[in-house]
Amino acid sequence: MAGELGLGLIGSGAIARAMYVPAATALASQGVRLLAVADTVPEKADALAASTGAVAYHDHRRLLEHPGLQAVVVATTIGTHAAVALDALRAGKHVLLQKPMGTTLAEADEIIATAQRQGVTLQCEPPHRMNPNAERVRQDMREGRIGKPCLFVARAAHAGPPDRPWFYFQEHGGSVIFDMGVHALSWVLGVAGPARRVSAAYTRSIPERLINNQPLKPDIIDNALITLELASGALASVITNYCTVASLVPSVEVYGSEGTILVNGPQANYMRFSSGGVLERPGAAQSELGWFMPTRTTGHLARLTTGEETRDARLSSLNHFVTCIRTGATPIPDGKFARHTLEVMVKAAEAATTGQAQSLSTEF
Ligand SMILES: NC(=O)c1ccc[n+]([C@@H]2O[C@H](COP(=O)([O-])OP(=O)(O)OC[C@H]3O[C@@H](n4cnc5c(N)ncnc54)[C@H](O)[C@@H]3O)[C@@H](O)[C@H]2O)c1
Repeated sequence: MAGELGLGLIGSGAIARAMYVPAATALASQGVRLLAVADTVPEKADALAASTGAVAYHDHRRLLEHPGLQAVVVATTIGTHAAVALDALRAGKHVLLQKPMGTTLAEADEIIATAQRQGVTLQCEPPHRMNPNAERVRQDMREGRIGKPCLFVARAAHAGPPDRPWFYFQEHGGSVIFDMGVHALSWVLGVAGPARRVSAAYTRSIPERLINNQPLKPDIIDNALITLELASGALASVITNYCTVASLVPSVEVYGSEGTILVNGPQANYMRFSSGGVLERPGAAQSELGWFMPTRTTGHLARLTTGEETRDARLSSLNHFVTCIRTGATPIPDGKFARHTLEVMVKAAEAATTGQAQSLSTEF
């Protein structure tokens, strides 16, 4: 076994509890030790510490001084990602950073430069670019199985977080694009390559919601269509919203001159149709998995896969992060990929506001 790796979790909320703690526990046999957890809400840090045996901190800067800590996961509210990540990088820690890496390109540039200067690993969520179905799409395209790829369509949508108000307010980094659209964008860009231009239409479709059974008036848009002109010459359409109670559509579609690929969810169904009408469906035994269905109790979405595949993705992500720290390999996705995704999101907002398509300057 490689040596021990001391890990800290900054942000002790839903994703930390449901995804990263189980992932860290699963990697204990590989020497990963969850040493410390932090949250600005003391009870949250204390509760997570009590359930994991880690030490609780109420200020992430104190957590960064914890003896033996080499790496952190930043899983705080979106508006704090960049500042917390920069503190961690400046303290010489490897950083696995929740999406988006920041809310401005200046923040993204500073994060990338600081990680390089410090010689530490920076990995950015979400991990779709490295999931097996994304690789399968890339391979099918490389090997010419769908002819010339012409159009990519991706959706990432649900009914909106039912219980945490911060997701609905810009001052906390709330944004359906940053929270959900980033998944669809990462998928498309991860298989189709960089984009050159973006246009978009945004709207607030549900002006008042019940969050924690209290009426709330969000200041974010909750419904967006983003169109990308890709460097390859193909087009992409990205749909994201907090207005989808249920859907029966694949989340990624790839249309080529000789065939179509449909991928339903990050690691569930994968279907390929050729122009001759032949259907290939690797892993067809999973045919019942991955469809979204409404639940009566919450009015929110549940997946028939019960979240296993999402947990698997998070485990792969932490596992990859640990491997990259130990081997010095460049993570997938790295800061450059996340910065390009962020530029698309920032410029999509400009495009929606001005009605003008915006050119993109970053690559990966
Ligand atoms: N919940 C999910 O399924 C999910 C999935 C993927 C990604 N994410 C992303 O993970 C991040 C966290 O989401 P969540 O759902 O866990 O939200 P959450 O509200 O449950 O947790 C966020 C926590 O961060 C804490 N926090 C805020 N600023 C802090 C700081 N400076 N230092 C320490 N703690 C701080 C908050 O008090 C809160 O407890 C977001 O970026 C979100 O987009 C969440």
